[in-house]
Amino acid sequence: MKVAILGTGYVGLSTGVALAEIGHDVCCIDVDGEKIKQLNQAVSPIYEPGLEELLIRNLASDRLKFTTSHRDGVSGAEIVILAVGTPQGEDGAADLTFLEQAAKDLAAHLEPNTIVVIKSTVPVGTNDEVKRIIEANCSEEVSVRIVSNPEFLRQGSAMKDTLEAERIIIGSDDQGAAEKVKEMYRPLHVPCIVTTLRSAEMIKYASNAFLATKISFINGIANLCEAVGADVNDVARGMGMDKRIGEAFLQAGIGYGGSCFPKDVKALYHAAKQSGKDLGLLAETMKINEEQRVLLVKKALNRFNGKLTGKKIAMLGLAFKPETDDMREAPSIEMAKLLHEHGAEVIAYDPVATKNAKKVIGDRVSYACSILEAVNGADAVLIVTEWDEIKQLDVAGLVEKMKHPIIFDGRNCLDEEKIRACQNIEYYPVGRPAIIL
Ligand SMILES: NC(=O)c1ccc[n+]([C@@H]2O[C@H](COP(=O)([O-])OP(=O)(O)OC[C@H]3O[C@@H](n4cnc5c(N)ncnc54)[C@H](O)[C@@H]3O)[C@@H](O)[C@H]2O)c1
Repeated sequence: MKVAILGTGYVGLSTGVALAEIGHDVCCIDVDGEKIKQLNQAVSPIYEPGLEELLIRNLASDRLKFTTSHRDGVSGAEIVILAVGTPQGEDGAADLTFLEQAAKDLAAHLEPNTIVVIKSTVPVGTNDEVKRIIEANCSEEVSVRIVSNPEFLRQGSAMKDTLEAERIIIGSDDQGAAEKVKEMYRPLHVPCIVTTLRSAEMIKYASNAFLATKISFINGIANLCEAVGADVNDVARGMGMDKRIGEAFLQAGIGYGGSCFPKDVKALYHAAKQSGKDLGLLAETMKINEEQRVLLVKKALNRFNGKLTGKKIAMLGLAFKPETDDMREAPSIEMAKLLHEHGAEVIAYDPVATKNAKKVIGDRVSYACSILEAVNGADAVLIVTEWDEIKQLDVAGLVEKMKHPIIFDGRNCLDEEKIRACQNIEYYPVGRPAIIL
């Protein structure tokens, strides 16, 4: 099947590569010329495990193409997928500017009978609006066949999540169009749920809001555990073994970040308000998350009697989660800002996100090339992202390098046995008793 994709970011690129891998003829279009140039040289603009290998293979097989030309890319496509960004607007609502522009770009070249699939995360009613925009901007009179097909991939495992998805949601009021999209995905052998446009749009927001709420719930419990002397890891394990609850998303820590949860929870909360419904639960989810993001800085301030001036603080990990170089809404941004404001000298290390971190954190911190370089002479270490390299670090070696072996573990990821094998160490996890030896 001939497929075109508008927007070659995390979602568009992963989808394009996966669809080519299962045999479709795919053309990815992006307005970012530099990105397209790189992709045509088989270089991935994002860090995503397994992506580059599939990119190289499918470019070589000629099933995958990249262009900046909407006309060339869309020509002859049976299905066009819109996967442009829908960032957070100033008032918290989803900003649909990119999507509206993409709809206009597409309208100019849309051929009759082409099916338009919206993969971007959008508020309920947006698919109808995009249909209207395309129809209003088409050169000839066409009735646009629209399908909502929200994406659920996670950055860091985008290729696996796309090729081995748990479910595919297909929303449309056009049964033939829904069937065609189902056919496109058939080689993946993934269960498809076919529903209406509006239900499909809602499934995506409700899923992300639920997961974010689960994270904030366990973080609220973690803070209570600290106050009453319980261990949140044991509590989460005990809760998660109940199949009705499930163990996923019950890891206490410094909260959720990234390009989806923060903006999607806000957008759903905002959309509910506009519909006269107050989803106060989501307000609490967001509040807990805001507080959690700066928890390690608060703990450090508490430990150093309110003064961080002149303290050398190492931040280990900067990306919002492991296996990605994405810094969007990473808790490290706010942490670095606060530490800087309190006069701390901050040195940070991340195995892949440093280049992107420099763009958003700038010179508030200095950047190390290794964990040991970051912790050298440090008064304290803040563990921000649970990269394998950080989880598996040699705690004794780290302690030797530090001025004061004080560790605040924002991801509860260090091995307690390794901590207990050290002397003169202070270890402060989240929602668990501190270890002070
Ligand atoms: N990133 C994720 O993990 C994830 C997961 C599920 C859903 N989503 C949703 O998918 C959508 C895309 O997210 P993303 O992270 O891939 O975004 P992104 O910012 O990484 O990529 C968007 C791309 O669209 C391009 N673009 C903008 N306007 C264009 C136009 N008119 N024509 C062609 N290209 C255009 C941009 O240059 C950019 O490369 C968002 O709605 C997001 O909420 C993201």
